Amino acid sequence: MKIGIVYDAGSGDWDPKDVAAVLDNVRTVQRALRSGGNETTLIPVTLGDVTWLKKVQRCQAIFNLCEGVNGMARYEDYAVAALDLTRVPFTGCTSWTVTIAHRKHIANTLFKAYGVPVPPFVLAKVGSTPTELKFPVIVKPSGEDASVGIDSGSVCTTRKALKERLEKAARLWEDTLVQEYVPGREVNVGFVGSEMLPISEINFKNMPDGSWPIVTYAAKWDAGSAEDLGTIPICPAPLSPELARRVATVARAAWRLIGQENGYGRVDIRIAPDGEPYVLEVNPNPDISADAGLANMARARGWDYNTLILKVVEEALERAGRRREAEAQYLKITV
Ligand SMILES: Nc1ncnc2c1ncn2[C@@H]1O[C@H](COP(=O)(O)OP(=O)(O)O)[C@@H](O)[C@H]1O
Ligand SMILES: [Mg+2]
Repeated sequence: MKIGIVYDAGSGDWDPKDVAAVLDNVRTVQRALRSGGNETTLIPVTLGDVTWLKKVQRCQAIFNLCEGVNGMARYEDYAVAALDLTRVPFTGCTSWTVTIAHRKHIANTLFKAYGVPVPPFVLAKVGSTPTELKFPVIVKPSGEDASVGIDSGSVCTTRKALKERLEKAARLWEDTLVQEYVPGREVNVGFVGSEMLPISEINFKNMPDGSWPIVTYAAKWDAGSAEDLGTIPICPAPLSPELARRVATVARAAWRLIGQENGYGRVDIRIAPDGEPYVLEVNPNPDISADAGLANMARARGWDYNTLILKVVEEALERAGRRREAEAQYLKITV
């Protein structure tokens, strides 16, 4: 099968390290696709020039690695929507999922409305400090992911600290979420289509003294930093069967609601000391590089990296088939 790999072409001011990381991921996925006997072609996505879509149309399927366009995360939604219009089957979540998940206040509002437990939250209003939440609270950008804007100062224990943090946030982000801080364990639950992968836990035991046990930007991106070394993933998570069942139920409810069990994703969860799991977010198309969380979970499931990549393609093809059938039915009824 001829599979195009779609990814952000980046912008001229990208750090060469970031360009190398994107291309590295593209090449690993390419090798995995070839291991399944596929022919591959690379399709960089550019802003203001949509000729890349012509290349998409010459493929039988697309592996979507696009996390933004020109480095701007908000354009990821449009790239997925454009892929959808070509009618070529593509891997990963639909544009609906990507759009909703990337607006945390909207995703949280849906969770709350549909009974998926989320920590109490408010969308911050510029110039005012919310009073309805219990301290400590965490301040995070609503429209970012991958721990952008998260550092030890994100958790505020006093009204004064919250006010200052919100003033800073207002200068940086369009929308800011303030959420009650959930102490306790943190777990991640990966999905490929409707299949749940083994639960993974982040062990914070080696976090530097005085730091909050949270996944900060440094923990995620600054390899070898104290916060990176203090956030160790353990998969499968050492949870009691009862706790694992509770986490699985909540994770699946969140994945169904926001992910519609399409594509692949990862649900981030904190478990309060009373054993109640709270959803922090659904990550559509999370990092699928060979050393990232999803690949680790897949390995714990018995899938090596190539198998994971081929399963993701299989899910895309099956989904496209289901959609073709559904639309054919629909046309029969309405035409
Ligand atoms: N309500 C919360 N309680 C405790 N920790 C939180 C809370 N919200 C976020 N965190 C911490 O911050 C990290 C990043 O937050 P998250 O909502 O997952 O955003 P993203 O991963 O998109 O940046 C989480 O992995 C967790 O460690
Ligand atoms: Mg997260």
